[in-house]
Amino acid sequence: MAKQPVRVLVTGAAGQIGYALVPMIARGVMLGPDQPVILHMLDIAPAAEALNGVKMELVDAAFPLLKGVVATTDVVEACTEVNIAVMVGGFPRKEGMERKDVMSKNVAIYKSQASALEKHAAANCKVLVVANPANTNALILKEFAPSIPEKNISCLTRLDHNRALGQVSERLNVPVSDVKNVIIWGNHSSTQYPDVNHASVKTPAGEKPVRALVANDEWLHGEFITTVQQRGAAIIKARKLSSALSAASSACDHIRDWVLGTPEGTWVSMGVYSDGSYNVPAGLIYSFPVTCRNGEWTIVQGLPIDALSRKKLDLTAEELTEEKELAYSCLS
Ligand code: NAD
Ligand code: LMR
Repeated sequence: MAKQPVRVLVTGAAGQIGYALVPMIARGVMLGPDQPVILHMLDIAPAAEALNGVKMELVDAAFPLLKGVVATTDVVEACTEVNIAVMVGGFPRKEGMERKDVMSKNVAIYKSQASALEKHAAANCKVLVVANPANTNALILKEFAPSIPEKNISCLTRLDHNRALGQVSERLNVPVSDVKNVIIWGNHSSTQYPDVNHASVKTPAGEKPVRALVANDEWLHGEFITTVQQRGAAIIKARKLSSALSAASSACDHIRDWVLGTPEGTWVSMGVYSDGSYNVPAGLIYSFPVTCRNGEWTIVQGLPIDALSRKKLDLTAEELTEEKELAYSCLS
């Protein structure tokens, strides 16, 4: 029997990530090649004409899985009955703006969209926040949508995770699909900690630890970490625009693994509500290694954390605590 369509909301759909993301969803990259979808696209009034252009292109592409498109500037219409919400819309940083000004605009948006989702989304809607500051926007969304279970609200650090896989693959000259179990801890910012201590590579002689294969601690403790931490800025410098195709593809990876499950023996990184695991303060949206089964993520427990890693886990937690305070001061 044919599956019922899943309604997927993309906010900021007229923007550059939106333009890369909606065709991926319509092609089944996010939810699988046999899962019909109805796309809900939200943007703001000044982008309404561009949004309508995206809708026209979706119709013209004649995607077999696409069973409907809602393109709107009305947040209630956008959120109604959605099963998955990918929150990409946000206010970009403009010249002369302080961090606090950007934070203030974005947390106000996430507070109001939290209410719309809470009232109008389908029960058990899964939410992925992409727009920056991604962790803190997700936290605000969670706090102002108290009836959405905290398990259902996440932020995107899968792009950082994929960037870490990519760096190891290039360094070792192995296919990226043979590298697994890197971890991104903490914030989607330059304080994040990309950790390869538990990562491995598939070789003809079995799985080998990345640390043993790289055998260059200087690179692993230095350039590898800073390259992943600074990759977003490097893309902006090169493209004069922030990452879009990789962000869209990683958003699909995040939702696909969350809904359909992670492969046996593999974990991925997701920004999720901290329960105090690894002594990360509870009440932050923090990126952890997780496995997913039956539509639920679980933080991987019991990984040994060395002293150097401990400092890095704490540093990024401190930044998130400061962001949380700043976000609340903007809302008061
Ligand atoms: P963009 O400026 O091209 O698009 C953003 C869109 O959001 C625009 O169309 C804008 O009109 C819309 N928008 C603004 N306010 C809105 C609102 N209240 N409701 C709905 N839509 C609204 O930006 P982009 O390049 O697509 O990036 C989007 C966001 O994703 C940015 O915040 C960026 O920093 C972030 N980002 C995050 C990651 C990550 O890994 N977490 C990676 C790349 C980019
Ligand atoms: C990225 O990681 O590519 C983005 O978060 C960068 C940005 O500031 O938009």
